[in-house]
Amino acid sequence: MILVQAKKQQIFKILRESFEIWGDGLSFKHYLRFNYQLFNLAWAKNHYKFYVLASQNGVLAGFKLYSLKLNIQGRIFRIAGLGAIYVKKGFRQKGLGHQIIDLAIKHLASKKYDGIVLFSDIASQFYTRHGFKVINQDDYIIDLDKDKIIDHLKNTSQTPQKAINISEILLDRKWAKILCTIYHKNYKLGHNLIRRCRHYLSFKLFKEHYALKHAKTKSPVINFLIDIQNSSYIIFSSQKHQKLRILEVCGYNLIGLMTSLYYYCFKKNIYTIELFKPSPKLEEILGQFSQNTYLKKRDWGKFMLLSLHEKLARLTLGKNTENQIYIHEFDYF
Ligand SMILES: CC(C)(COP(=O)(O)OP(=O)(O)OC[C@H]1O[C@@H](n2cnc3c(N)ncnc32)[C@H](O)[C@@H]1OP(=O)(O)O)[C@@H](O)C(=O)NCCC(=O)NCCS
Repeated sequence: MILVQAKKQQIFKILRESFEIWGDGLSFKHYLRFNYQLFNLAWAKNHYKFYVLASQNGVLAGFKLYSLKLNIQGRIFRIAGLGAIYVKKGFRQKGLGHQIIDLAIKHLASKKYDGIVLFSDIASQFYTRHGFKVINQDDYIIDLDKDKIIDHLKNTSQTPQKAINISEILLDRKWAKILCTIYHKNYKLGHNLIRRCRHYLSFKLFKEHYALKHAKTKSPVINFLIDIQNSSYIIFSSQKHQKLRILEVCGYNLIGLMTSLYYYCFKKNIYTIELFKPSPKLEEILGQFSQNTYLKKRDWGKFMLLSLHEKLARLTLGKNTENQIYIHEFDYF
């Protein structure tokens, strides 16, 4: 059994099966079209690949590989992202899942990656056996204090801005440029970020937008609040009358943006915010208007990291402690 970079035909075979898990409400036709288009985007050409485990019985398992660069305190690390790890039905529970992870780790170590990350859709124990560690804390839930928010909006001198949704961002190229400029400014300051270019942003936005446009089921809408003057932005998703989830915060001067976010909550009557454990600064800002905050534990849906470099072993998305390197984000959206 060998691990090989997949040919188009092999990718098609896997997609045909994985559609029922990762179809996200798309029709099969749209699921194929989505994947085809994704592979043909500029960023994907050098950074996004599909690997399969091939045998005499054909393709038995596969995964997607993203190549990313992470800037930690000015030092660049090569990171591999694994996605859509899949074993063909009828061949499961025979060790193939563990085998493909083992082969992936060996292959990536030989290619001099410094670490491997993945977002586990299943219980994380499957990956801890291979040395992966959970790096995000549990979900952080904030119930906002409605009265305090209304008071704040009444008394503030700032004019809250309207959130821009992902379709508007994609329609007008100027936004992608602005987002990248802000991101890059913060990146240059060495704040532990994934190295992103405009192509990468387009790749990510395309992924999020496709389901929104073509899925039969309702997916949350991604929104952006951008403060050009203060080189900051907030990306969040929201679903009507439900919670709002903060996906990414970039920049340091967030006061104006938070007022705009609260304004959005007020307009939509949403008073619960969800996010992975925030940075201490964001926690402090959010804390001012919260009624109640708590951690929601879950077994699945974890960012996991396998360190192939001694410095990465101290990486955490959680609290900053003496021995750990706190990172701000790991590409949440
Ligand atoms: C998860 C998956 C890749 C495992 O493949 P497999 O060939 O059955 O795995 P193996 O035979 O090597 O190992 C079986 C192990 O997987 C575990 N496993 C299978 N499904 C699991 C799940 N949903 N949650 C947690 N563990 C799971 C089994 O409990 C077993 O555990 P053990 O190693 O402690 O005995 C396969 O079930 C699959 O393709 N599932 C659908 C796609 C998916 O959910 N992928 C994971 C994305 S993060």
